[in-house]
Amino acid sequence: MDEYIQKRAKQDIKAKVAACFVFSDDDKKIIGYYTLSNDSIPRHILPEHVINKLPKYKDLPVTLLGRLAIHKDAQGQQLGQLLLMDALKRSYDSSFSIGSMAVVVDPIDESARMFYSKYGFIQLPDNNRMFLPIKTIEQVYLNSVL
Ligand SMILES: CC(C)(COP(=O)(O)OP(=O)(O)OC[C@H]1O[C@@H](n2cnc3c(N)ncnc32)[C@H](O)[C@@H]1OP(=O)(O)O)[C@@H](O)C(=O)NCCC(=O)NCCS
Repeated sequence: MDEYIQKRAKQDIKAKVAACFVFSDDDKKIIGYYTLSNDSIPRHILPEHVINKLPKYKDLPVTLLGRLAIHKDAQGQQLGQLLLMDALKRSYDSSFSIGSMAVVVDPIDESARMFYSKYGFIQLPDNNRMFLPIKTIEQVYLNSVL
């Protein structure tokens, strides 16, 4: 995560493969960041109850929350939640300009998986990915935290 923000984020932004959003302190030291990109997922990997409500396209547009990290000295102060809520709100807003039916994440380990589960992300069957439908963001978060 350190290596990404120090060495790769700049080139990803320049190549337009990811948009990166940072949270910094008064001295402009980066405390946390996340990235968003367009992505798609094959319809057939979604759970039955989700598929039933969707148009029959082979692939469905999603927003990839590619990375989310808080500096280890600043963890446990609700900043991960703050950045996640910011990412969800941004993803929700942009879905009105560019279609996206869910936010997807690729958790790096079990701990990250637990973090995303806490916010309603659903595990895709037979896949490392987790997803949160944009409709859920609207229903659960829009009238509360966001
Ligand atoms: C995962 C990460 C972003 C969480 O950020 P954080 O600032 O430490 O978390 P917060 O303080 O915002 O925690 C918010 C809530 O999530 C919970 N939480 C945090 N990390 C958790 C974890 N690994 N598993 C389960 N719950 C977790 C907290 O207990 C807190 O719950 P509460 O509000 O009920 O007290 C941070 O630990 C991190 O950068 N980890 C390394 C990189 C990473 O794993 N990124 C995500 C996957 S790519």
